[in-house]
Amino acid sequence: MRAEKERLFKLRAEINEHNYLYHALNKPVLSDQAFDQLFAQLQAMEAQYPQWASADSPVQRIGAAPVASLQSVAHQVPMLSLDNIFSEADWLEVDRRIHRRWQADAAAITYVCEPKLDGLAISLRYVNGSLVRAATRGDGQQGEDVTHTLRTVANVPLQLRDPATQGGVGALPELLEVRGEVLIPRTTFATLQAAAVQRGEKPLANARNAAAGSVRQLDPKVAASRGLRFYAYAVAESSQELPGSQRELLTWLQGLGFSLAQEIHCVSGAQAVMQQFRQLGEQRAQLPYEIDGMVIKVDSLAGQALLGFVARAPRWAVAWKFPAEEVRSRLLNVVWQVGRTGALTPVAEVEPVEVGGVTVRHATLHNAAEIQRLGLHIGDTVVLYRAGDVIPKIDRVVVELRVPEAEPVVQPRCCPECGSDILQPEAEVVARCSGGLYCKAQRLEALVHFVSRRAMAIDGLGEKWLSQLLESGQVQQPADLYRLEKKALLTLERMGERLADKILGAVEKSKATTLPRFLYALGIRTVGEATALALARHFQDLENLLQADQHTLEEIPDVGPVTAAFILGFFHQDYNRRVMRELLQAGIHWPTMELVAHGAAGSMVITGTLSQLTREEARQLLLKMGLRVASAVSAKTRAVIVGTDPGSKYTEAQRLGIPVWSEADFLQVLRQHGLWPLN
Ligand code: IVH
Repeated sequence: MRAEKERLFKLRAEINEHNYLYHALNKPVLSDQAFDQLFAQLQAMEAQYPQWASADSPVQRIGAAPVASLQSVAHQVPMLSLDNIFSEADWLEVDRRIHRRWQADAAAITYVCEPKLDGLAISLRYVNGSLVRAATRGDGQQGEDVTHTLRTVANVPLQLRDPATQGGVGALPELLEVRGEVLIPRTTFATLQAAAVQRGEKPLANARNAAAGSVRQLDPKVAASRGLRFYAYAVAESSQELPGSQRELLTWLQGLGFSLAQEIHCVSGAQAVMQQFRQLGEQRAQLPYEIDGMVIKVDSLAGQALLGFVARAPRWAVAWKFPAEEVRSRLLNVVWQVGRTGALTPVAEVEPVEVGGVTVRHATLHNAAEIQRLGLHIGDTVVLYRAGDVIPKIDRVVVELRVPEAEPVVQPRCCPECGSDILQPEAEVVARCSGGLYCKAQRLEALVHFVSRRAMAIDGLGEKWLSQLLESGQVQQPADLYRLEKKALLTLERMGERLADKILGAVEKSKATTLPRFLYALGIRTVGEATALALARHFQDLENLLQADQHTLEEIPDVGPVTAAFILGFFHQDYNRRVMRELLQAGIHWPTMELVAHGAAGSMVITGTLSQLTREEARQLLLKMGLRVASAVSAKTRAVIVGTDPGSKYTEAQRLGIPVWSEADFLQVLRQHGLWPLN
């Protein structure tokens, strides 16, 4: 047994050492096959002797269970960012400033030039050499705990290498917090991208987003499949004294088992840094990972301490960013896409060109204002740039090359999907299709909203079912939901008897609603719950609302010109009116609004104990209806709400002839205002 235990621990140490040689030093001595054999042996042994298994073991990277959600983590030492610079002049100014503040008479300052890795910043905390926590940067003060996913990153040491026992210098620090960048290497990203496309999924925007998404996965197995890598570049906290320079610090980290970016150089003087920047720019396209510039750090840690920080960035380091890559192409056409919320987005179609190793055919244009700014004509020669993202942007038009037949690009007046009017209230940048319930592009979104809990509350009818119902043509608009038959529902994939009954029951139940809920469910742009309630309170019934003009609408608190325009635009469409009529014919109904007069309504008084809600909740709800709560009954009191064991306020109300509401009366009023049940 002892011999077995020794063998297991030796095997584990051996594998850790090979991982170190492979990942940290880039000098593997074993073939992949030989390594895999060792690994399999350890796996078998740990399975056989679970009593000796350890979370630090290299075979335990992936096994952890998914987490329910990401927990917030406070950074002991804040995670700062760097100031950006963009030119040689900027850099010379930074160098001068550093001289002034720190070494006015020194001939040259020693700098470490590191690639600016384009991933996301991560902090790794080690206690007694074991990885105990990994966190994202977040806002710099608070990040998210991503220990479960970072543990799966092949080159993150789970256990630090002890420099002393390995013939190095120094001992293992009791506490160490290391910072670095996690990213997906280029070739890995290309493979993931190809696989996603093959599965018919939307291509991932870029390697950085993919890395961020992978790190924030709840299931470590998913993260493990993304080929993430971690490169260390700083120490936030250490219980042990650190070496005297950034260069030595990095070497020390490497000795502890961390991988470093390959392209790190220590040079002397501002000119040499510029030389490094040019060189890194030339290497950029061949590097194994995406970088977006070069980070320049004062090498001396004493110098760093002396220079200190301004606001959220150090004075001893800057990020010199690469200019975005530019290419020219020709604008072939502009297509207008309608999003799920009706937003109209112009997309440029350009003659295919290569930018940064990717063939580009489309460019985003954001909105009509952007087109105006560019002065874009079809047929124009345009300058495109790509800033890391797969879809590039148009930077400018080469006006000198404009052909005489070039036509200006104009925003359509009608929705390209459904032909409804395009609305663009003044002061809004985004133009939208007013087709709401009618427009194909918006139907799913509209239905999902319609059935949602705070709208018609049709339980069990989620997006998955709605999109199937849309696809099969059984449902095109909300009123169709009230015509659904069980037979038809059962034709859906994975739909069973019980679920179908449940859905039909929920549809039936939703017919009894309130006016505010109904108005909210229609999904009129910018009409949220509060506005729906204000509209219902003001107009009291749908007919009055349908007849309102812009002016009347704008008089309502909570309704500005933009919202008024959207409301009118919505009711103006025949199709929307028809859907509303059909909904009412299907049996949707609501109690008439008990008018709680707005304006000078007087105040309410509560006495006794309410069983369904606290005093404070009651007070808040009354406030939402525009009613204040007073502590004493007077002639101006609107009504008194009476719970169990009421006090003298009850008798006072009776004496003054003031209306008395039981708790049930109160809840009924709340219900009519869409405020009950509480959500
Ligand atoms: S040092 C106190 N070194 O750039 C500054 N940062 O804007 C600590 N980054 O959030 C950062 N490569 O994610 C440093 N070699 C490198 C870096 C690097 C990429 C990122 C990092 C940070 C951002 C700063």
